[in-house]
Amino acid sequence: MTEIPDGMAGEPQGKPISASRTTLSHIMTANDTNLLGTVHGGVIMKLVDDAAGAVAGRHSGGPAVTASMDEMAFLAPVRVGDLVHVKAQVNWTGRSSMEIGVRVLAERWNESTPATQVGSAYLVFTAVDADGKPRTVPPVLPETDQDRRRNQEAQIRRTHRLARRRAIMALREERAAQGFDDH
Ligand SMILES: CC(C)(COP(=O)(O)OP(=O)(O)OC[C@H]1O[C@@H](n2cnc3c(N)ncnc32)[C@H](O)[C@@H]1OP(=O)(O)O)[C@@H](O)C(=O)NCCC(=O)NCCS
Repeated sequence: MTEIPDGMAGEPQGKPISASRTTLSHIMTANDTNLLGTVHGGVIMKLVDDAAGAVAGRHSGGPAVTASMDEMAFLAPVRVGDLVHVKAQVNWTGRSSMEIGVRVLAERWNESTPATQVGSAYLVFTAVDADGKPRTVPPVLPETDQDRRRNQEAQIRRTHRLARRRAIMALREERAAQGFDDH
């Protein structure tokens, strides 16, 4: 009988966070501005989704789709001429989903002043197969104390997301049972 190596007997093998950690950098131009002349939040959100998608694809070893984006925070305005760095890593993995934590930093493109944090977000990506159905992902292996803290915080967010979704579904069912036709 062929012996099955550790990690291949059902559960997929774990992958360290550093194996998929990614930084995407982009210089902001006049094409990226809103009517106030600063960078449009949607431009930053696209970069956040792109960076998180690259991390999710690398970690899961295949296609992964954005299931949700939450807590997108804009901490300071981004300006034309800023070099923006979008840093993303897997914080937590479930069966087929992954929470990707993203930090957005900005520095002047032609100055040597340190970059400051201008935004952050948490996204859930679900790994999918060729039919778009969820597929299992390798468990993520936190390597540092900071990784472990982020992993624990991601579990708290996951618990809250599920509880919120359950509570809303229960309320909708209750209203439907009461005869309301409001969704
Ligand atoms: C995400 C998607 C694949 C989930 O499919 P599904 O049939 O609902 O699958 P499930 O309910 O089994 O969920 C699969 C996993 O995704 C997670 N998930 C699904 N919807 C989620 C949401 N809105 N927020 C957070 N996580 C979610 C589930 O918790 C589950 O995680 P787990 O396997 O780690 O426990 C499906 O909803 C989809 O294809 N959505 C569109 C994604 C897309 O196109 N994004 C780009 C937008 S342009």
